[in-house]
Amino acid sequence: MANKSWVVLSLVLCVAVVSASDPGLQLIFVLGDSTADVGTNNFLPTSMARADFPHNGIDFPCSKPTGRFSNGLNSADFLAQMLGRERSPPPFLSLNAMSLRKKRFSGANFASGGSGLLDKTGKTSLTLMKFGTPVKTPVVAPSGNQKNVVSLTEQIQQFATVKKNLTAIKGGRRVTNKSLFFISIGSNDLLGYYHSNSSIPKEEFLSSLMLAYENHLKSLIDLGARKFGIISVAPIGCCPSQRIHNTTGGCLEGLNELAKAFHARLDALMLKLSSECKDIKYAIGNAFEMTINVIQNPLPFNFTQVEAACCGAGKLNAQSFCIPSAKLCSNRDNYLFWDLFHPTQAASKLAAVTLYTGGAEFVTPINFAQLAKA
Ligand SMILES: *[C@@H]1O[C@H](CO)[C@@H](O)[C@H](O)[C@H]1NC(C)=O
Ligand SMILES: *[C@@H]1O[C@H](CO)[C@@H](O)[C@H](O)[C@H]1NC(C)=O
Ligand SMILES: *[C@@H]1O[C@H](CO)[C@@H](O)[C@H](O)[C@H]1NC(C)=O
Ligand SMILES: *[C@@H]1O[C@H](CO)[C@@H](O)[C@H](O)[C@H]1NC(C)=O
Ligand SMILES: *[C@@H]1O[C@H](CO)[C@@H](O)[C@H](O)[C@H]1NC(C)=O
Repeated sequence: MANKSWVVLSLVLCVAVVSASDPGLQLIFVLGDSTADVGTNNFLPTSMARADFPHNGIDFPCSKPTGRFSNGLNSADFLAQMLGRERSPPPFLSLNAMSLRKKRFSGANFASGGSGLLDKTGKTSLTLMKFGTPVKTPVVAPSGNQKNVVSLTEQIQQFATVKKNLTAIKGGRRVTNKSLFFISIGSNDLLGYYHSNSSIPKEEFLSSLMLAYENHLKSLIDLGARKFGIISVAPIGCCPSQRIHNTTGGCLEGLNELAKAFHARLDALMLKLSSECKDIKYAIGNAFEMTINVIQNPLPFNFTQVEAACCGAGKLNAQSFCIPSAKLCSNRDNYLFWDLFHPTQAASKLAAVTLYTGGAEFVTPINFAQLAKA
């Protein structure tokens, strides 16, 4: 009897020692829009926000179009690389019941092109139609379970499924509070608001976005998330798709003002959340400052074209999406924009390096490298 208890006790001790010294694999979960999508929308047959056809992916291994809105990798991939992975974890929608059991399971990417903080953002194809030719003409208009995008609310529900399954498989040990949550969202909400000529005042609209952001973050916190790497909205008024609405070819200042205000509001929100919930850690990348800095002074970064898209057609190569018949530039590393909305692989890499190692002018209160270690 005494012997038996000893055996049990040492087993318990062993388990305790193993857990304590287990570095607790740091899983990566990515949520957001097309800036972080690595192929989610390929699984939505009626979605028009797709990039799973050439010339997308031309600089990806084997020139494969993966669904990334890029000539190669995107920022989610480069951030994952800096954390020692090959690239972003795969789309959640590509996982099966076996994926989570694999030893090399490293996280999931829920990001879906076209989505926003508001559930209605991206639900209709209206926004896409307004800014260019639809990428794919769906046979049936998206409705009900025929999705155009996976909203952030649904992305968080998908994470809840992953967490539940992982807890069942690994006894909870692998879904620790060490996991990193990268979130890049907000551009589509701002674009939708700006172009709808809404009568809602700007301040009121931004408040509604922040309330939505707060609720999303609280849902993630309730599910055990503690470390957030958040990317605010870039100066979207300078996207080729927006410049073509300005007769001078300059940026749409109204949109840029919205993006700037979005960052300030997000900064205040995170300060408030972290005072209410002391154990959360976060880093906010100021995508506005990072990008405007490059647009105003491109040469040190090897960019010679920061206005036109590399892949597209018409004015600034921004009157069409990057479809197989589009015009393609050859010096892609010298372009800031891949298509009418999205950065090139070179620009995404620069963004990720800045997020990972940047100083307080670009990422606060700590950078993503410090966040990973925190
Ligand atoms: C999660 O578990 C459910 C029920 O066992 C299963 O049907 C589903 O495929 C699992 N999902 C993932 C991503 O593992
Ligand atoms: C918004 O206003 C602009 C300029 O007045 C106009 O060209 C555009 O069609 C309007 N958009 C909507 C959605 O009403
Ligand atoms: C268009 O660009 C110019 C700079 O070239 C800028 O001064 C102006 O405010 C822009 N117009 C709009 C509507 O944003
Ligand atoms: C995670 O949990 C451990 C143990 O409960 C705690 O010591 C640590 O500070 C937590 N980390 C974060 C980022 O909250
Ligand atoms: C700069 O651009 C040139 C193409 O013009 C490319 O060959 C080179 O690799 C780029 N340099 C860096 C550091 O990215």
